[in-house]
Amino acid sequence: MVNKIQELKEKALKELETVNSAKELQDLKVLYLGKKGPIQELMMGMKDLSKEERPAFGQAVNEVKSFLEQKMEEARKVIEEKELALRLENEKIDITLPGFKMEQGNLHPLTLMQRELEDIFIGMGYTVEEGPEVEYDLYNFERANIPQDHPARDMQDTFYINAEKLLRTHTTAIQTRQLEAANGKLPIKMICPGKVYRRDDDDATHSHQFTQMEGLVVAENITLADLKGTLEFMAKKVLGESSKVRFRPSFFPFTEPSVEVDISCHMCGGKGCNVCKGTGWIEVLGAGMVHPDVLEMAGIDSSKCSGFAFGVGVERIAMLKYGVDDIRHFYTDDVRFLKTFNRFE
Ligand code: DAH
Repeated sequence: MVNKIQELKEKALKELETVNSAKELQDLKVLYLGKKGPIQELMMGMKDLSKEERPAFGQAVNEVKSFLEQKMEEARKVIEEKELALRLENEKIDITLPGFKMEQGNLHPLTLMQRELEDIFIGMGYTVEEGPEVEYDLYNFERANIPQDHPARDMQDTFYINAEKLLRTHTTAIQTRQLEAANGKLPIKMICPGKVYRRDDDDATHSHQFTQMEGLVVAENITLADLKGTLEFMAKKVLGESSKVRFRPSFFPFTEPSVEVDISCHMCGGKGCNVCKGTGWIEVLGAGMVHPDVLEMAGIDSSKCSGFAFGVGVERIAMLKYGVDDIRHFYTDDVRFLKTFNRFE
């Protein structure tokens, strides 16, 4: 019997030597020391021995059992250390390797320009309003004093959707909506930025879709001088403190008087260069005093109050400010172009 115990011990030790993972060790432990293992079997067999034999046998089995337990525990520690060392080796990070550079985007130049303009006017107490791009003829033309068959309709070649609906040709459509929505409540002091559409052939200075920002102020005693001061303030903020503004008579059906607004050339300071085509001035927007008929159509009493309005091309201002020579750059999404605007954020 005792021999059998010794044999078992040696066999277990030999097998223990070949173990190299925690899993194998656990399997071996279950095999020898588990409930169905040979040690347990020997313990069970004790009942068949005589009373005298039992103590010595029991002691021998227990000794082997704790001996094997101890050896397995030692083996466990060695294996764990080995496994840990291996894991550390495998998971080693070479912190000297250069990392992957994250590509970071930046705001589109038109977004930058629009936000800058909005900030300037918000600073003067204006609200920012929006309107639909698919618009009724009513708001785009009729309410802007451009009735059906009026020759001024030819000034803006229009994408019609049906007889009543079109893609708005100017943000003046938002102006006429806002005049109506005010429901006679004054003052009105707002800007309305948005996309507009025209059936133009695209070239360096024209696009079938572009961005405008309308300005509108209606209250008592609003004059052309208020318009001039406001636009001069805008020009100084956007293109530099030395900027000047001049008005030239013009015509729009929705304003009377109407003016074309020039800003002194920020490139040459007014001396004349190829940006301003030698004139020292650059035409940037249309403006005027809101036509009394436009106020009346929106239910506003034109004998008691007056207003000014202007419509500025956001691309036009952005091209001047950033020195962009072709409007199409804004829409073709060439990252080499777009990336250069991270310096303005
Ligand atoms: N709607 C005009 C255009 O698109 C621009 C404009 C001119 C807007 C004069 C105005 C204005 O509000 O008063 O050409």
